[in-house]
Amino acid sequence: MNYQDFYNESIDQPAAFWEKQAQKLDWFSFPEEVLYKDEHDLYRWFKGGTMNTCYLALDYHVENGRGDQVAIIYDSPVTNQIQKFTYKELLEKVSLFAGVLKAKGVQKGDTIVIYMPMIPETVIAMLACARLGAIHSVVFGGFAAHELAIRIDDARPKLLLTASGGLEITRIIDYMDIVNRAIEEATHQIEACIVFQRDFLEAPLKEGRDFDWVSLTQNAKPASYVPLEASAPLYILYTSGTTGKPKGIVRENGGHAVAMKFSMDYVYGIQAGEVYWAASDVGWVVGHSYIVYAPLIQGCTSILFEGKPIKTPDAGTFWRIIQEHQVNVFFTAPTAFRAIKKEDPNSEYLKQYQLSTLRTIFLAGERCDVSTLNWLSDTLGIPIIDHWWQTESGSPMISNLAGMELIPIKPGSAGKAVPGYNICILGEDMQELGANEEGAVAIQLPLAPGCLPNLWQDTARFKESYLSPFPGYYFSGDGGYKDEDGYIFITGRIDDIINVAGHRLSTAEMEEVVASHTAVAECAVIGINDPLKGQIPVGFVVLKSGMTCTEVELEKELISMVRDQVGPVASFKRAVVCNRLPKTRSGKILRKIMRNIADKVSYTPPSTIEDMSVLGELETLMLEKHIGA
Ligand code: COA
Ligand code: AMP
Repeated sequence: MNYQDFYNESIDQPAAFWEKQAQKLDWFSFPEEVLYKDEHDLYRWFKGGTMNTCYLALDYHVENGRGDQVAIIYDSPVTNQIQKFTYKELLEKVSLFAGVLKAKGVQKGDTIVIYMPMIPETVIAMLACARLGAIHSVVFGGFAAHELAIRIDDARPKLLLTASGGLEITRIIDYMDIVNRAIEEATHQIEACIVFQRDFLEAPLKEGRDFDWVSLTQNAKPASYVPLEASAPLYILYTSGTTGKPKGIVRENGGHAVAMKFSMDYVYGIQAGEVYWAASDVGWVVGHSYIVYAPLIQGCTSILFEGKPIKTPDAGTFWRIIQEHQVNVFFTAPTAFRAIKKEDPNSEYLKQYQLSTLRTIFLAGERCDVSTLNWLSDTLGIPIIDHWWQTESGSPMISNLAGMELIPIKPGSAGKAVPGYNICILGEDMQELGANEEGAVAIQLPLAPGCLPNLWQDTARFKESYLSPFPGYYFSGDGGYKDEDGYIFITGRIDDIINVAGHRLSTAEMEEVVASHTAVAECAVIGINDPLKGQIPVGFVVLKSGMTCTEVELEKELISMVRDQVGPVASFKRAVVCNRLPKTRSGKILRKIMRNIADKVSYTPPSTIEDMSVLGELETLMLEKHIGA
């Protein structure tokens, strides 16, 4: 079957299409109803099906002759270690750690926060939660204590799992210190913390609250998998929204497993026994889906990389790993390749390695600039596939289907709609726009299995954020257009979310911090284009009258406040003082116009602007301060 027929089938008969895909998994009991609506009038998948994601990822493969195959390769240039775990070994470790959790009273439906670096124990912890039906919520290590506290208060975990430390190239991150501060700030009380001590940093444990990971594991009894309803949540992953409060994206077990298998078969085109590597972090959705769940459900070998594309130790790390572990399919963010290209423009490192096993590279997380895509495809001579998705979808929504029919690549486009996603470009009054007309990227309901069914305990916000803007559709928050051949081009967020080095961040969260400085009367944080990180945040602040601090001092303080409260990952390194901000007469700050000025993109000021002359002032200020293009 070709792409178009396959796609049409998925849109014309979604229930029959996904029933066929679901049959590829080993359910304990197969769903009675494939597509239905719940009590909130929201679409759901696979009613009555029972299964367990950990069983599909591990037990199933051990029972079916894959026990001695390597499941995970932990490659850590920052600690100079490589460790391999077969499916059998991983199953033993996960069962034991599930026993640890069970002994601590963890049951199906409990939530558990995981704040850990890229080490095997993190994967073991996620799978152990899945085994028991506990809902994990992994928080990325680059977020600060305050962000961790917000997530603790929303997810209300029974336990928190952590490690003593992480390594950022050579800088040691004291995780326990961050955890202690977060627990102090949070109002929700955690019953216990389980701490994995790393060789390079021993964390002091609080008597009665903190427990040593290894000691607990030594005394544990293995725990078996718990059969779960398809609709039972597997995890909550917080992602940036347009307010200071992150959104708790819920992922259900059943739809997720089907989506993971489907994407490996058709999008990535990778088979059991092959090697898949997503160079991301388990704190992001890419890490959940394509370091942990999808490769294991598919029976692949997955690589867990604790390092960076450069400086650990050099710009040849990616190529070394691809050669050494015989990687077949590789996935990362474009920013990683921009960093490599900058460090090694003539590909001297690349020449030292043999990459014959590598079939395809996938890029996502941010818009892939055409020059990086062309550089990669000229250098490597294999398909370089830009594909588009979000934390909300959990798997690709626009791509080129390497596992079905590779269509010609158009640089700048993320490809065509993935089966299951009726992607439409809508104008403000909800009409579908014609070829090459730019509008909002929306998806006609129902969304495919694996997409968020709801937000964690916040149906009202779910409906308001995603369903209300265009009734009958899911609103992605991105803008874009479709060309005459059905290729979709994503042009960027149309809300105040930014993408910094492939990391999704909210400018509203940063604004809250900047606005809390005693000297600041009002502020706007905008994301401006950056040649390495795609976008970087810049703060524009108006001082309270009578404030005397110097601009240099103020900038230093604001940088440190954002680092301390949002985290280093925000990469907030610039703040400038301005006399006033551009606003509409009703007081709304015109952030998009500020972005356009910085990025030198032409714009038309709205007729509602309060005072046009502020735009000229801003242009001069940005020129003087070297902000923007
Ligand atoms: N724990 C603690 N701190 C972290 C962290 C973590 N897990 N991850 C990042 N940080 C810190 C970094 O140390 C850095 O701190 P600094 O300001 O003191 O230098 C800051 O957060 C910004 O990190 P990052 O955006 O990663 O920038 P970088 O300069 O260290 O590296 C790249 C630049 C391009 C090499 C890097 O961003 C990269 O590898 N990007 C790939 C992105 C990716 O995989 N995204 C996932 C979506 S697919
Ligand atoms: P996240 O939820 O962190 O995966 O971020 C999702 C957002 O990243 C999307 O809404 C887009 O703005 C952006 N994004 C992801 N992949 C792409 C891509 N291939 N092209 C353009 N933008 C992308």
